[in-house]
Amino acid sequence: MEFFHTHISARSVELASQTLRSTWISEGKLVQAFERTLSSRLGLVNPVALNSGTSALHLALILSGIGPGDEVILPPQTFIATGLVVLMQHATPVFADIQLDTGNIDPESIKEKISEKTRAIIAVHWGGYPCDMDAIHDIARHHDLSVIEDAAHALGSVYRGKPVGSLSRFTAFSFQAIKHVTTGDGGALCCLDEEDHKCCRAIRWFGIDRESSPVSLLGERDYDVQSVGYKYHMNDLGAAVGLGNLEEFPKNLARRREMGARYRKELENVPGVTLLSYKESHQSAYWLFTMLVEQRERFVKKLATRGIPVSVVHQRIDRNQVFGGLTPDLANQERFEDAQISIPLHCGLDDEDLTRIIETIREGW
Ligand SMILES: Cc1ncc(COP(=O)(O)O)c(C=O)c1O
Repeated sequence: MEFFHTHISARSVELASQTLRSTWISEGKLVQAFERTLSSRLGLVNPVALNSGTSALHLALILSGIGPGDEVILPPQTFIATGLVVLMQHATPVFADIQLDTGNIDPESIKEKISEKTRAIIAVHWGGYPCDMDAIHDIARHHDLSVIEDAAHALGSVYRGKPVGSLSRFTAFSFQAIKHVTTGDGGALCCLDEEDHKCCRAIRWFGIDRESSPVSLLGERDYDVQSVGYKYHMNDLGAAVGLGNLEEFPKNLARRREMGARYRKELENVPGVTLLSYKESHQSAYWLFTMLVEQRERFVKKLATRGIPVSVVHQRIDRNQVFGGLTPDLANQERFEDAQISIPLHCGLDDEDLTRIIETIREGW
């Protein structure tokens, strides 16, 4: 049994082969088609396809104007990329506490961490369960902060009836190998603001606005780059894989939700297990099924003896020296760090696999 599963649909293989045979493998029509499909099928607003989720987060910070001396508030419960992009901009990451019952950033802690230097908040939807975005937006409005959602785990998540990717100034998605939809590696940045969207399209490709810089008589595009740009665009080969996988995404997402609901029902009253909270207003895309367990090492060993892999997936990132050491006074993060564990949830599992996982846990450890 795998803990993570890379899903490549038959259609992805077909489209990728066609693309290779066409020899047009750089950014072109398929990247545009991938972006259009993300909007039309999933309701993402102005998605700009990129080469990774990390690039998406980095561009969100750049477009927010984050630079040296600025502070960005984020949770430690995330992948290291979320914090590294702040350092890439020579700004200071300020870690806020999380909610013990979701793993998501706690709006009350954000309030306590705000200073004169705060410029942005990064909200990470842990495992795909949406953060309390209304409270985060209220704080951001009050202090004039940019809100960036790290939705690497949250393709298909819905908050109060609206898709994640349509809520905040910026939302960053990842299409890396083990995500809901993969393009090999890839990402997208959604921008609510049209000006941000336009800048994002240029800055992902060296700062050159492809649409308004035609190739001149002399054979090169006529452009005048005015600020630093990046080579962060997605290419057509990745987009071909992504388009093929997107066709199966609704079915796969429904299956993930079905598995999540079954785990919640059948693990609810198991001694030593505390499930995370679930509100109907916050629909998870269930990239992970994280729970809190007592005696975690015994739990991990017991499941390993039955061939069931489990993982913490990510440990708090402020433990890395690059961030200067652990942030004190994050009581919920400390408790979460000691007890969190995720059990397998992906489309490579069948109902019998789930039964085996559930029964093994119900036996105790
Ligand atoms: C929470 C979170 N943010 C950002 C990223 C970075 O995404 P990518 O690997 O596409 O750069 C990841 C990747 O796993 C992640 O889990």
